[in-house]
Amino acid sequence: MDYGCGNGRLWRNPGHHDFELMLFDPMIDDLRKTLGHIPVPFSIATSTADLPGNHFDVIVCSLVLMAVHSDDEAAKLLETIQKCLKASGRLVLALTHPCFIHQAHPDFVTSFSQKDGFSYNQAGNQYKVIINDRGTEVSLTDTHRNLNAYLDLIKQAGLTLTDMEEITCENSKGEALDYPSFLILEAGVSEPI
Ligand SMILES: C[S@@+](CC[C@H](N)C(=O)[O-])C[C@H]1O[C@@H](n2cnc3c(N)ncnc32)[C@H](O)[C@@H]1O
Repeated sequence: MDYGCGNGRLWRNPGHHDFELMLFDPMIDDLRKTLGHIPVPFSIATSTADLPGNHFDVIVCSLVLMAVHSDDEAAKLLETIQKCLKASGRLVLALTHPCFIHQAHPDFVTSFSQKDGFSYNQAGNQYKVIINDRGTEVSLTDTHRNLNAYLDLIKQAGLTLTDMEEITCENSKGEALDYPSFLILEAGVSEPI
């Protein structure tokens, strides 16, 4: 399942085609017309109430959690995901890297790198993100959380971190930046204590 799928851009070029895909996004009714490019069969859930429990091998939640401003809502989102995962399933959570959000990135820049001061430990601060999506600029508001805050949310939802990867992008000259732009966290369902 792609939880918070947006325009489904993650599925433009899937590496293989032998999987079932479910898309969920609270804005799905506005996004339906943008999903025609997806080359694998998919179903759409329009509400969290339609999501099957204990069902998915993998749930991807990409660039969504920063857009959820309240911690209560973020906790609810992760609890919903935890319930939908099989016991052996994995959540793959993509975040703009919270440690380097104030730096310039090839595809996005934030107000932390412009006028707003950045305090890593000041969780809950909102900031503007300007994304360059293949030449089109999109502006949105995200909420900053530090790594500790993300890990607390993950644990409280009954999930356990299993892996992480920092993604470093290249600048326009093809040189790797000195810092990662994205953080990928992988989590599984926690064993009952
Ligand atoms: C920046 S877009 C990312 C879209 C897509 N996942 C991607 O990586 O391109 C953030 C998406 O999160 C969705 N979203 C916001 N709040 C959400 C929530 N509580 N549960 C699920 N999705 C949410 C928005 O509707 C939007 O489509």
